[in-house]
Amino acid sequence: MAVLHNDTFLRALLKQPVEYTPVWLMRQAGRYLPEYRATRAKAGSFLALCHNTELATEVTLQPLERFALDAAILFSDILTVPDAMGLGLHFVEGEGPKFMNPLRQEQDVQRLHVPDMQRLRYVFDAVNSIRRALNGRVPLIGFSGSPFTLACYMVEGSGSRDFRLLKTMMYQRPQLLHHILDINAQSVSLYLNEQIRAGAQAVQIFDTWGGILSDAAFQEFDLRYLQQVISGLHREADGRQVPVIVFTKGGGQWLDQLADLEIEALGVDWTVNLHRARELAGDRVALQGNLDPLALFGNSESVECEVRRLLTDYGKGSGHVFNLGHGINQYTDPEMVKFAVEAVHNLSAPYHQI
Ligand code: CP3
Repeated sequence: MAVLHNDTFLRALLKQPVEYTPVWLMRQAGRYLPEYRATRAKAGSFLALCHNTELATEVTLQPLERFALDAAILFSDILTVPDAMGLGLHFVEGEGPKFMNPLRQEQDVQRLHVPDMQRLRYVFDAVNSIRRALNGRVPLIGFSGSPFTLACYMVEGSGSRDFRLLKTMMYQRPQLLHHILDINAQSVSLYLNEQIRAGAQAVQIFDTWGGILSDAAFQEFDLRYLQQVISGLHREADGRQVPVIVFTKGGGQWLDQLADLEIEALGVDWTVNLHRARELAGDRVALQGNLDPLALFGNSESVECEVRRLLTDYGKGSGHVFNLGHGINQYTDPEMVKFAVEAVHNLSAPYHQI
């Protein structure tokens, strides 16, 4: 594989000195880009796009052609894993993901197995193809959902406003949920290890729904299984460390505990103050975030002001990867994204001068 020309992102995750604050954006490839919409139309559907190595490679690189991003993220979805378990993923236009066979009865849960990784071959092929196409330009991030976040969709069968079915199982039949989470944790470790083997240079675990839990439930049903995933990871490839990022949306109150996981970085949503988070995390982890995705609906003055605020909040020194506090909104103006990425690069250099 080609030598890495820009490793700023990897160095920041390891808190090694950098010249400027690196930036990438959650969901940086997606519907806010007209060229993405065109490629998706060519593929026929979102899932067809995920399955097509060449087109998945193309859309992964699209945001890099427009913006000076410091990392690429594999184009795929967190729900590929439950799909490979036989739950039957499909997308209903305008409604988001749905499973044909959600886990509603005890028999559904008892039948659940760690999937054969061959069924996810198309994802590893995409990783390999993207690495070749990047040709050392920036590092490639692999990803997975957290065991708990995957379970939310697997039990509900779709997204949900209140996660009533999931929480009914959690309070009435906690052992059933533990069984799902254990299978998910084993599957996620295997899945991320295969992505690393195929060429992912960092991995992120998306714990999008951790924030819906009470403190006690977070400990029992989420944190424990993050730990299980992380303990199963092979974290080296090509003689280089593969940093692990955990992003728990709404996880601000658990930062101290999350920072104790054996990981390199914590993603934080926009409700978190970066100065306080850095004090709390100390030397343990780097921080990634945390511009409100809707801040990109302001104007250039307000966006510059928010970028400055976050850089100042984090303060001097390495260990900050600039990102949004959640995925980019589909109605975002790409010109504002360009402006924000350039602002991060231009305004951050003074924070890295010794
Ligand atoms: O960041 C990237 O550019 C890489 C690609 C990526 C996608 N999904 C592509 C996608 C990543 C990292 C994800 C993660 C993901 N998927 C999460 C965790 C992050 C988060 O946003 O909370 C979750 C919860 C999912 C599940 C999922 N996939 C939902 C709820 C939806 C529908 C909501 C929506 O935004 O439409 C998807 C579909 C999806 N995944 C799209 C994309 C580009 C839009 C599909 C389309 O093109 O129509």
